[in-house]
Amino acid sequence: MSEQVFIFDTTMRDGEQSPGASMTLEEKLDLAKLLEDMRVDIIEAGFPIASQGDFEAVNAISKIIKESTICGLSRAGQKDIERCAEAVKPAARSRIHTFISTSPLHMKYKLQMEPEKVLEKIHDSVTLARNLVAEVEWSAEDATRTERDFLRRAVEIAIKAGATTINIPDTVGYSFPEEYGAIFKDLIENVPGADKVIFSAHCHNDLGLAVANSLSAVLNGARQIECAINGLGERAGNAALEEIVMALRVRRNALPYETKIETTRLTTASKMVSRITGFPVQYNKAIVGKNAFAHESGIHQDGMLKNAETYEIMNPETVGQGATNLVMGKHSGRHAFKDKLSALGYELADNAFLDAFQRFKDLADRKKFVYDDDIVALVDDAAAYIADTVKVKRLRVVAGTDGPQTAELDLEINGENKWTTQRGNGPVDAVFNAIRALIPHDAVLELYQVHAVTEGTDAQAEVSVRLSDGEYVTSARASDADTLVASAKAYVGALNRLIAKKERHSGGQKAAG
Ligand code: KIV
Ligand code: ZN
Repeated sequence: MSEQVFIFDTTMRDGEQSPGASMTLEEKLDLAKLLEDMRVDIIEAGFPIASQGDFEAVNAISKIIKESTICGLSRAGQKDIERCAEAVKPAARSRIHTFISTSPLHMKYKLQMEPEKVLEKIHDSVTLARNLVAEVEWSAEDATRTERDFLRRAVEIAIKAGATTINIPDTVGYSFPEEYGAIFKDLIENVPGADKVIFSAHCHNDLGLAVANSLSAVLNGARQIECAINGLGERAGNAALEEIVMALRVRRNALPYETKIETTRLTTASKMVSRITGFPVQYNKAIVGKNAFAHESGIHQDGMLKNAETYEIMNPETVGQGATNLVMGKHSGRHAFKDKLSALGYELADNAFLDAFQRFKDLADRKKFVYDDDIVALVDDAAAYIADTVKVKRLRVVAGTDGPQTAELDLEINGENKWTTQRGNGPVDAVFNAIRALIPHDAVLELYQVHAVTEGTDAQAEVSVRLSDGEYVTSARASDADTLVASAKAYVGALNRLIAKKERHSGGQKAAG
């Protein structure tokens, strides 16, 4: 039996700090359930002191998750730690993750604190946290730019005060794999008590090295990796969970460590996070990208037909990527649809199932072939729609060479129907003007992207929209066989999130990366 590496998912904490990647409570609960099903060891569910919404999310997740440890983030102050302890209290297994900066740059400019004072804070914060919960993780923020002597002292104090996990973040994504690994080796060999705790890697991807650095940490003694689905996280993101897990699995010969992760759920998790955040997954993204197992050139296709191992180092099914099968059409019945949903990882309650089935029938009437990806888009859209306070009810657009391009739009806003007709410089502009007329707001459109969900001219359009009001950034994604309907739904989705985010964060604070 090889040794286990614990997987710590921070999609809902560091991931949510990514500009535009906000998640609602319902979305976080769904994601937490999926992470638990995937057998993630530790779920970092949020930063409870940051806002009432974050507190409630960590608290609600703590109540429903039984298998994974639920962790909340906290700075080094008493109020932060106590709020965090309260949030994770209902969890079957709970953890407080407290951090403070240790690099000269951060201590001088960010904390404006003398190094000796920082050491005192480490002692006090870990001691307090340990009095409240059994598992305490301590992080040295900006560890990779910290003087080594000082880092050793800081880690020793954290261990003596009762930390059970020591995290060494590459906060700014600056390290190279050899350097990062060497820090772990040094700390594990030289800090008294290092053998009593788990060392953890937390890498940012500013130089594209987050996964390589995390694996180097494991080679040098780390036994926990902090990562996020699709590599979500501050700036260029965190190490991608799916890449870490599959690297450990495929290259067990080089890295004899295993994780408990149920890898067949990786693609479902990637799609869910992409849908929730509105961030598309790049086609050539390792493991979960649409092209990750596609073979285009004749030579490659020929090799694949003779033996798949010629060009594939893992089987697509092990990560939950099936071929884009032709699955169903308008003659498929409820039973077949239910089986298909369950194969795709969805168990819907009766009403949600009937709603999804009706949407599927509508789609099958308009589209000859309905693929797995169509069904995923349809079910995910329906889930987001139910939670929204503003809903697109009806849209009629006049487009074409003659103009004027006009959109007639009915929205349901907090249960009340409102409608308008607006012109625009093109049909999309007309649709967005109509939304602005019904819900006046200052946010600007930062991104508008259209992709086809599957192949063919009758494919559903998947639209991503990002809005920013200068303070907050939100994104949403929606799909429909009609590109303009998908555009309206995506814009309204991002607007719903902006409204919710403003409410959630009133009076809140932001964490470090
Ligand atoms: O990147 C970082 O340093 C962090 C800490 C809060 C762990 O996210
Ligand atoms: Zn981070």
